[in-house]
Amino acid sequence: MLTLSEQALLRSQNLIDDRWCNAGLGARLQVADPATGETFANVPDSDAGDARLAVDAAAAAFPAWSRRPARERAQLLKRWHALILAHQEDLARIISTEQGKPLKEARGEVQYGASYVEWFAEEATRICGDIVAEAVPGRKLLVLKEPVGVVAAITPWNFPLAMIARKIAPALAVGCTVVAKPAEDTPLTALALVWLAQQAGMPAGVLNIVTASREHTPGVVDAWLADSRVRKITFTGSTPVGKHLARESAATLKKLSLELGGNAPFIVFEDADLDAAIDGLMASKFRNGGQTCVCPNRVYVHDAVHDAFVERLAQRVGALHVGPATEEAAQIGPMINARAVDKIARHVEDAVARGARVVTGGKRVRTADGPHYYAPTVLADATPAMELSCEETFGPVAPIFRFRDEAEVIRDANDTPFGLAAYFYSNDIRRIWRVAQALETGMVGINEGAIAAEAAPFGGVKESGYGREGSRHGLDDYMHTKYLCQGQLG
Ligand code: SIN
Repeated sequence: MLTLSEQALLRSQNLIDDRWCNAGLGARLQVADPATGETFANVPDSDAGDARLAVDAAAAAFPAWSRRPARERAQLLKRWHALILAHQEDLARIISTEQGKPLKEARGEVQYGASYVEWFAEEATRICGDIVAEAVPGRKLLVLKEPVGVVAAITPWNFPLAMIARKIAPALAVGCTVVAKPAEDTPLTALALVWLAQQAGMPAGVLNIVTASREHTPGVVDAWLADSRVRKITFTGSTPVGKHLARESAATLKKLSLELGGNAPFIVFEDADLDAAIDGLMASKFRNGGQTCVCPNRVYVHDAVHDAFVERLAQRVGALHVGPATEEAAQIGPMINARAVDKIARHVEDAVARGARVVTGGKRVRTADGPHYYAPTVLADATPAMELSCEETFGPVAPIFRFRDEAEVIRDANDTPFGLAAYFYSNDIRRIWRVAQALETGMVGINEGAIAAEAAPFGGVKESGYGREGSRHGLDDYMHTKYLCQGQLG
């Protein structure tokens, strides 16, 4: 049992139309401790009927919410923001417990998620359209920005608070209403966040949430896909699921934002500051145990600095403390579940069988807490023939590829269907502009490993999806453009 300062944050029901309720059929979803796989809580296992009730509530609430003055919506979001920060420690404990994120990082995630709520609260009051110079005398041409309507937000387990916050906050800020479904592995953080929104005074039906198991999720999502009242779907998750959403939403031509898989390259040129590059790689690769869409998945190091880089990196990685996420000292917690650990082990075994060298780590770890841990790992002599070069490992494994020239490394970095993030380290200003423009990704970290921020547009190109989250572009994704032409004014 998870003990919190505010025990009411631990919710075990859906919120539909301001009412906490069970799934219509009474089914329950078991929530597992990621370290052991053992159940420690349960929430509703909702189905299509519950999903439709949530849309009924959101559709009914939309007219009044969308007409509320932007400043009132902003004030409500600000109250929500203040409550999230006031409950930072409890929320961090929930995140750590259900997701396995080390407590220090979980506190950071609460701040990070809250920053989106604050940013979009501020942006809500700055939405504006245009008055266009008239082409014909006696006419006025005006462009308005309007909320799209009901938004369905489908969120992942790896950032159980920040991802739902950065979808819901812009939707509410512009006047949309929301139905949300968090990942089956991490429903508790999302329910706590929605409870705080209710405490902040969110009107009935504006924000609704249903939880569902892996088996029932397709029923919930298909109900939303088929419902013409849902005008937008925002999703973070795998590319195959993103493609399914794109195909199935075509019948009602919904707006879509898809933040999908990545396979980020991290390039260290011979002129880089190696200490900065190692700091950047530690921050971006080993954050959340490597379970981040923007994690470097392929580390390319120039031949001239390769051996020094690998040796220094291995020392840092070998010193990372693996342990229960809720312990203050933990730097790498458990992976999300047994399947995740199996995939990491499979990638490492495949790489070693194809010639990779384990410099540090390379094995499963069992702590006193449970078996779902993997040792932070550095692999040298990685090649494009290895599985981990084509598919996200989503674990604490840094495979190092040696390269000799810029053109070759750019070709290899871009040789993937994905295009979410890329990183490179160089001190040559001409190279910096050349490489930044040549990389086929939506985001590029230049001499920087931590790139996400509420004021920045987060999103990908190619099969990493489309749409942006954060920044003013993240607001645009929840609005459509309406043109008014008024005549007879001359
Ligand atoms: C993600 O893994 O999808 C999000 C990571 C971030 O916001 O930095």
